[in-house]
Amino acid sequence: MTASTHSYCDDRIRLTVGDLTEQAVDVIVNAANSSLLGGGGVDGAIHRAGGPAILEACRALRQSEWPDGLPTGQVAITTGGKLPAPYVIHTVGPIYGQHDGNEAVLLAACYRNAIELAAERGLKRIAFPAISTGVYGYPPESAARVVSRTLSELLASGVAVDEIRLVFFDAQQMASFVTHQQFPR
Ligand code: APR
Repeated sequence: MTASTHSYCDDRIRLTVGDLTEQAVDVIVNAANSSLLGGGGVDGAIHRAGGPAILEACRALRQSEWPDGLPTGQVAITTGGKLPAPYVIHTVGPIYGQHDGNEAVLLAACYRNAIELAAERGLKRIAFPAISTGVYGYPPESAARVVSRTLSELLASGVAVDEIRLVFFDAQQMASFVTHQQFPR
């Protein structure tokens, strides 16, 4: 099945349906939890497909940079292990309703911090899942507005990435994003 795609911002932002772990980009972004020690959803899929090297690298982060875990909105990079992508940027999305109304700011921070870290490391093609819209309960239509505005602002600011890929697990989720996105016309 050829995944239908949509693109925005001179094709620098591309939407597709598929499995994030199969994306042949420079770095994929994991919707992790603050423990960094794995979980379900896309986190589980990344650790399963990427193998133990990713968990070992996450454990090392917990013993060094993030002894108390990764705070919501923050990012940390590890090897991609056996994934097609050589790197994973782990981030912790907001749990909807648990951040005193700061959920949108924190969701935007996940995307902004991941893209800025990728640019710093010279990683030009980055792929995201729909962070927080699964277990963490973020309403997809609200997430679409926050994410599209954040990505547009980042590209307008000249951030040094060539492709931002938004990977949806099913066509319905991508369709919802397309309906509610606020990318510039
Ligand atoms: N590829 C692409 N998207 C995926 C995949 C995959 N392999 N697996 C799941 N998704 C989608 C889900 O359908 C959802 O739209 O990723 C989105 C994010 O869902 P979750 O993985 O549940 O992430 P999140 O809502 O941020 O919750 C994070 O869940 O897995 C645990 O350890 C994780 O505690 C953390 C929490």
